[in-house]
Amino acid sequence: MNKEVDINELLKELSLSEKIGQLQQLASQFYIKDSEGELTGPLKDLGISEEKIWVSGSVLGVKDAEEARRIQDKYLDRSSTKIPLLFMADIIHGYRTIFPIPLAIGCTWNLNNAELCGQVSAKEAALSGVHVTFSPMVDLVRDPRWGRVMESTGEDTYLNSVFGKAFVKGYQGDLSSNYNIASCVKHFAAYGAVEAGREYNTVDLSDRQLKEYYLPSYESSIDEGAKMVMTSFNTIHGVPASGSKYLMRDILRDNFQFDGVVISDWGAVGELQVHGVAADDEEVAETAISAGVDVEMMTSCYINNLENLVKEGRVQEELIDEAVLRILQLKKDLGLFSDPYRGMDGNKAKQMFMCNEHKEAVRKVARESIVLLKNDNVLPLSKDKKVAVIGPKGDSTDLLGGWSWQGRKEKITTLKENLINEIGNNLISYAEGCDINGHDESGFEEAVNVAKEADVVILALGESSEMSGEGGSRAYIGLPGVQERLAEEILRLNKPTVVLLFSGRPLEITNLSKKAPAIIEAWFPGTEGGSAITEVLYGDFNPSGRLTMSFPYATGQIPVYYNCYNTGRPKTANTAETRYVSQFIDIPNEPLYPFGYGLSYTQFQYKDFTLSSNKMTKDDKITASVTVKNIGDRKGTETVQFYIRDLVGSTVRPVKELKGFKRIELEPQEELKVEFVITEEMLRYYNIDCELVSELGDFHAMVGCNSADTYTEKFTLL
Ligand code: BGC
Repeated sequence: MNKEVDINELLKELSLSEKIGQLQQLASQFYIKDSEGELTGPLKDLGISEEKIWVSGSVLGVKDAEEARRIQDKYLDRSSTKIPLLFMADIIHGYRTIFPIPLAIGCTWNLNNAELCGQVSAKEAALSGVHVTFSPMVDLVRDPRWGRVMESTGEDTYLNSVFGKAFVKGYQGDLSSNYNIASCVKHFAAYGAVEAGREYNTVDLSDRQLKEYYLPSYESSIDEGAKMVMTSFNTIHGVPASGSKYLMRDILRDNFQFDGVVISDWGAVGELQVHGVAADDEEVAETAISAGVDVEMMTSCYINNLENLVKEGRVQEELIDEAVLRILQLKKDLGLFSDPYRGMDGNKAKQMFMCNEHKEAVRKVARESIVLLKNDNVLPLSKDKKVAVIGPKGDSTDLLGGWSWQGRKEKITTLKENLINEIGNNLISYAEGCDINGHDESGFEEAVNVAKEADVVILALGESSEMSGEGGSRAYIGLPGVQERLAEEILRLNKPTVVLLFSGRPLEITNLSKKAPAIIEAWFPGTEGGSAITEVLYGDFNPSGRLTMSFPYATGQIPVYYNCYNTGRPKTANTAETRYVSQFIDIPNEPLYPFGYGLSYTQFQYKDFTLSSNKMTKDDKITASVTVKNIGDRKGTETVQFYIRDLVGSTVRPVKELKGFKRIELEPQEELKVEFVITEEMLRYYNIDCELVSELGDFHAMVGCNSADTYTEKFTLL
């Protein structure tokens, strides 16, 4: 078959069962089992016959190029259709050379970093036989109890939308190069809103919330050309997403004009029965194909039932044809008909893995993702001081975070090792103190003694990789185990101490933040995390990360996010003493650290915030400008954030919404005028009739260094 294959003609040549086969995705284990013909293990559990394996259309999770080639070979040999298999995998923040987790990439506020992550990951993955990555995950996240917040770029619709685009651009380019892979945006839709942050739980949102906050990030990734969309596990409006016509037909196909492939999440088609919207596998298949799922991942309702359903007239064959055509189109777009082994090159892959260029890329992103949360004159450290590294993360190789299945922990240089490389063995001492999640405090004494001997202490604390990511919901999001107790013992020494946090989510660290003189959030920083952190600790890199998810003051405050509504009884300076306002009686309303927050080793001053006019019509634009000056004595990067509030709407409007941001680098004493252009489009929202329009009236334009610290000017849309 050549590149010019006519997929419509090809479709005509396929039997119904061959067509249905294209809709099935199986894990690679199905193709590399040792004993042929015998139905055991996953094969048996899935209830799929041997012959169906050889008509299935795509494969999930190949190990490497050799395996992919072997599977493709065997498949082309045995399959009746000779249509090449598509290989898909979860390449979320790197393939072998691992970037910081996506939440951390978000905290760089640098879209080039997402694109870079996409490019580097795509190259290593394509050489290893992958054609499609199940990324970006653009779910809006407001609940840090949910383990999967680590996969998202955070709590803001606009930021997630622009980051989603950047990831897609990085992975896909124009797909013409064998170093690009197709991208699958997920989880459609609103998986980030699971109740209580509990994995796989229910989502119930108003249509307005769904459209205004949750859907734009999927849409913008689709606009960027993402080839695939993955459904989510949750319900929306009482219907599981993988069986929702509203989501897949009305929104995805009709509104977003998406013409690519829709794949279910793992097992989510079969789960329609468990949710209780289908009585048996037949009904499951009928519901999912009618709703618009093209590819069924890892359950077998389509392949075992669709043929009968078509014969009985319960499912129109046209539905199957449409789905198959979309899959064939993707195979064609990837060039698989002319080269079923597209990109696969194990030797070249090995040269790319952890090569200097890729390591430099992940180190750059790691540096920029680190957020300085507090610094009472402790940081940066000077290189002649004796340092005690204390805590279970100090000499740990668990720096990659979830979804780094191809990463190699054993190749990681730990924080302690990096510090030794930086200032020498004789200046570094180390004690683990306790483990991540245990209750044993017997190591505290040694840790305290080690700390006593040092000039400064680095307390390296946090979560293990398994505590976030899929299946990593936590009800208590403080430091696990006895780590906070260890911190208390060490902080009691009153040494200059830096708490260095490694986590896949914002943690509840309110007590710690009162006692610790310096705190750094390092997230799961990836392959080069240890060296990036070392650069920050010693001031070789001036930290510039800004939070994209609020750190709650207490877990009971969740969800706490910056773009909330005002309520009818907001707590203000004037009402602070009143009982009957919207507040907690035991904690503040504000998060501990707000969206957009992060410190630097220098300071930035904002002045002269002005609007070019205080009025605009729908065809006008207003330029908002502010001068930002570096008033410290180090070069630094500031992220200037621009927010808008619609003061009166036909429905209530958030107290502020991010509409733009600019990262600027300033030398000491240098100042720069930063501008944002306000257009009518920026002012649109889903009005009382759920139409996306702007409404005349007054607005606030706000600029500042984070969502809680802004300057305001008023303007009117006439
Ligand atoms: C996850 C998806 C992932 C898929 C395939 C599911 O359990 O929810 O995010 O892409 O597995 O590995």
